[in-house]
Amino acid sequence: MDLSVQQGLPFGQNCDVLVLPITKGAKFRKWLDPKIATQIEADGFEGNLGEWLCLPSYGLMKAKKVALLGVGERSALTNDILRRAGGLLSKRTREAKAKTVATSLLGVTFGELPLREGVEAFTEGVLLAAYGFHPYHKKQAEKHAKSSLKSLTVFEERKALLATYERAFYEAAVLSEATCLSRDLVNTPSQDMYPLRMADIAKEIADGSKQISLKILDRDRMERLKMDAALAVARGSTHEPVGVHLVYKPKGKAKKRIAIVGKAVTFDSGGLSIKPADGMMSMKIDMAGAASVLGVFKALQSITPDVEVHGIFLAVENMPSGHAYRPGDVVRAMNGTTIEVLNTDAEGRVTLADALSYAATFEPDAVIDLATLTGACVVALGEEIAGAMGNDRRLLDRVRLASEEAGEAIWELPMPPSYEDHVKSKIADVKNIGAKGQAGAISAALFLKHFVPAGLPWVHLDIAGPAYTEREARPDMPVGGTGFGVRALVRYLQGL
Ligand code: BES
Ligand code: ZN
Ligand code: ZN
Repeated sequence: MDLSVQQGLPFGQNCDVLVLPITKGAKFRKWLDPKIATQIEADGFEGNLGEWLCLPSYGLMKAKKVALLGVGERSALTNDILRRAGGLLSKRTREAKAKTVATSLLGVTFGELPLREGVEAFTEGVLLAAYGFHPYHKKQAEKHAKSSLKSLTVFEERKALLATYERAFYEAAVLSEATCLSRDLVNTPSQDMYPLRMADIAKEIADGSKQISLKILDRDRMERLKMDAALAVARGSTHEPVGVHLVYKPKGKAKKRIAIVGKAVTFDSGGLSIKPADGMMSMKIDMAGAASVLGVFKALQSITPDVEVHGIFLAVENMPSGHAYRPGDVVRAMNGTTIEVLNTDAEGRVTLADALSYAATFEPDAVIDLATLTGACVVALGEEIAGAMGNDRRLLDRVRLASEEAGEAIWELPMPPSYEDHVKSKIADVKNIGAKGQAGAISAALFLKHFVPAGLPWVHLDIAGPAYTEREARPDMPVGGTGFGVRALVRYLQGL
């Protein structure tokens, strides 16, 4: 899609649809041909959030159609509402089979919102809603390609602001592309998105940037590093496990060193503690944490913050077989901590035990992990909100701020010391399940805490809910993988 800004007003623009986002009660009559304005009033357009009214212009304007897009009360306007509005513009103009669209934000008063962020959110919405995943569906792929928008021209009267628009477009394009990469990886069936394939994607990213290097940990190397926990999970599968360690280094001096770690279970059958059929259907998404780590690195190619970033994941497939690890087995993680495996379906934390231990050896200033870790977190917070837990107030606050800016909701859950015995084992240092039917997301985090050295600031994001969506709750988030976490983490890294 060709995205551009032009100085002036959009009303004389030759295009398929002219879209005007409008706050509630804004006076649009002054901009439009009186006949069209009268028709819009007669149709009862109010400007409520999500309202869309599209009319033919009957040759009264150069645009073939004019559409009004409601964004709700002016006082309630946020960047996230603008993101939704951008998404709606994308979706509705696609439905209207438009190829060329002109728009302007003049009907949206920015109030307290900084312009750059508002434009960026709006554009992100447009681009994220244009996403489709159809490599396995020829007809859909053709339909999608045919209906996609060719150009979006945004009009702005104030010349001094044009550069701000350009900057916002650039960031929105980078972040959307990175988010959509993460979505693609999550949406790809496990038969094609197996551990070594994830390492290939990492290689493609590292090859695309002089500032990104890649270390691959093959099985031998994982054995030498004593990653026996992750290796135990991988044993049931015919797919080779592989560790990925990406490093981004800024050109100048790095202000900080940050490690981001992702859960990378390319398929989670549950292993010998096998999942019921219904619970297994979506488990190709169990590498979404790592997919978002890859998305972040994709963005780092273009948005080059002054921090050193380590992206780490241990990719495995969790399958039952004669070689599979068993309930009752005790495995030793890289940091020496022993784990009693009581449920092979609580495999994510077992792989993260090694990934976090490995990350800590590089002595980062902070570690953030993303993992589709527990069904309990979905029960607690639903599909739209990730659970956040950690050991450092400042880091938790920073991550929350970044997630707010990105429009990716997180909510903090406590890690009470009194729950630590939920993961105590009689025969090993820890066990991989908590108390039955209680605080499942928290006990998973308390388990992970055993693999983060004391004093290392750490945040764990349980993204089991928002990593993918089965219904389109908002137009910028089509069904399937969402790419959750990419934008929040990039924002966090930018803000350091
Ligand atoms: N990958 C699942 C968690 C999950 C569930 C992600 C639903 C996305 C949607 C994880 O490996 C798992 O199976 N967790 C178990 C842990 C339990 C056995 C302690 C769970 O949540 O039931
Ligand atoms: Zn599992
Ligand atoms: Zn899992």
